[in-house]
Amino acid sequence: MPDLILPGLIDVHTHLRVPGGAHKETFATGTAAALAGGITMVLAMPNTNPPLTTPEAMEMARSAAVVDARCDVGLYAGAAPEDIQQLPELAASAVALKIYLNDTFGKLRVDDLPALVACFNLWPREKPIALHAERQSVAVAIGLAAIYDRPIHIAHVSRREEIELIADAKGRGLPVTCEVAPHHLFLSAEDAPRLGALGDMRPVLGTPDDVAALWAHINDTVDCIATDHAPHTLLEKRAAEPPPGVPGLETSLPLMLAAVQDGRLTVERLTALMHDNPRRIFNLPQQPDTTVEVDMTPWVIPAGGWRTKCGWTPFAGLTAGGRVRRVVLRGRAVVEDGEVLAAPGSGRVINGM
Ligand code: NCD
Ligand code: ZN
Repeated sequence: MPDLILPGLIDVHTHLRVPGGAHKETFATGTAAALAGGITMVLAMPNTNPPLTTPEAMEMARSAAVVDARCDVGLYAGAAPEDIQQLPELAASAVALKIYLNDTFGKLRVDDLPALVACFNLWPREKPIALHAERQSVAVAIGLAAIYDRPIHIAHVSRREEIELIADAKGRGLPVTCEVAPHHLFLSAEDAPRLGALGDMRPVLGTPDDVAALWAHINDTVDCIATDHAPHTLLEKRAAEPPPGVPGLETSLPLMLAAVQDGRLTVERLTALMHDNPRRIFNLPQQPDTTVEVDMTPWVIPAGGWRTKCGWTPFAGLTAGGRVRRVVLRGRAVVEDGEVLAAPGSGRVINGM
């Protein structure tokens, strides 16, 4: 008997690197990692190479996902000023739009106002808009939600002032939702020197006070836990100018279960953060007969032995609260005794509603 049975978890922030970065991750390896972590649906980010800002690039990603995905995958379209007029066409094959307001890995950025306004005017109202917005960009994002009276989702919130601003916005009834990544909950700037490039991501790790603020808002303001699984090879991470980003698909649920073990989170809240709210916010289809069976024995996260192609984790040495034993997706066992059984191509590519 499993200690706990959860619905299939949904990660709304995953980088699967195809097209252009298959040496870091592919739909086959990334979705194997997802399933091993109890995640049966991922939303893949558009900062690929080429980025998913044109119908041609979207089709490259979509056709690779059809052949390779082992769990269900939705694609984000990306916003680039030079391709802004293509947004309505992109929407047909995308679940949501991602707008980058701040610098991170890859060149995707919208930093002029006409392009930003065009995103809100051209993207279909029934499909969500997610933003990478840090510091005062959070206020810009919330302002746009208010002006255009449409929901926005703020990716990987990491600082006290950001989560408090979002709490205020929600208190005033503005249509804002947000996600927090496990690395911003379980690591801080105090871990950064020890981790070096393996602890570098965007947004960067917060202070212990930032981490405390995120936990303080976990039951009211935080809507989703999202991995921001952003794999880069160890070789790239050891280079002179390492790219930002860390993997997280296989460690997200185990870490959140540690919070359940120490009483910081209920199982009901975990389920809301990792299934119910992601599904509602992004209008995602239900996965019938889909369950995740969990063994609640604590374990120490190892350095290696992962399914993600990058093969490492920033969380090595931390104690997890439980592990995934078995996953059933649409009635079929896709993980058994921790082993991934799902074949490439058995996952569905979803377009959202
Ligand atoms: C992400 C990546 O590597 O694609 N890196 C990161 O540090 N989070 C990009 C992103 O999500 O900002
Ligand atoms: Zn990301």
